[in-house]
Amino acid sequence: MRLTFDEHGTGPAVVLLHGFPLDRSMWSSQLGMLSNHHRVIAPDLRGHGQSPTPSGPYPMEDLAADVIETLDTVGVEPPYVVGGLSMGGYVALAMADRYPDRLRGLILLNTRAGADSTEAAANREVRAAAIEREGSTESLTAMVDLLIPETSRQARPELVEHVAAMIRQTSPIGAAGVLRGMALRPDRLDVLRTLAVPVLVIAGSEDAIVPEEDAQAMAEAAPLGELIMIPGAGHLTPMETPGATDAAIRSFLDRLT
Ligand code: MLT
Repeated sequence: MRLTFDEHGTGPAVVLLHGFPLDRSMWSSQLGMLSNHHRVIAPDLRGHGQSPTPSGPYPMEDLAADVIETLDTVGVEPPYVVGGLSMGGYVALAMADRYPDRLRGLILLNTRAGADSTEAAANREVRAAAIEREGSTESLTAMVDLLIPETSRQARPELVEHVAAMIRQTSPIGAAGVLRGMALRPDRLDVLRTLAVPVLVIAGSEDAIVPEEDAQAMAEAAPLGELIMIPGAGHLTPMETPGATDAAIRSFLDRLT
């Protein structure tokens, strides 16, 4: 499936995959900062933003295949660096699993390699069914409190507004499809154990969704893994702390080239 994407700059390619239920606009700082030396591509994943929204569920492997198809169609030559936040990280790990030869490096932000517990998977089904029933993603805007810590919510009303707007604009069919798809994903810690390329893990010390131990486990599993913990940051490090996040990404990319 061909995805809608933003593209900036020239140079080695870096592909950035957004979280749930957001869109490619979450990467605006990185699109600007990285494009001095890189070709930066940020797609809307299936069911999000302006990309197609077929009926679900959307397994992470299908989202990964969409990204590959889109990159191939527009002539982005592998190997490239793939970075993903949270759900985008699940997709990046599916790419590392299915298409390891296409990767030059992996950036995993505010994400985890583990599968859902039975309880978490069941909870996703409850949320998917509710969204379908309501025909709206309005109920998902309550996630803002989990995505952004209180200090940043108070200090940055424009950030809260941007995140809530992305959530509201996500189609109910897309949100339900991806909730069910995330519930299907396998544990991919072993994929990291055998990955031959450098892996940068970025985490926020105040992330209410992904605990620090999950970030540490990924960095330790990858033979060429490293962890950057951003103090005070929540689940959306690229948006909430773009300075520290951009510096970590730039340093990682500089060492790759
Ligand atoms: C995300 O930010 O992409 C989601 O919180 C991921 C998830 O629900 O596991």
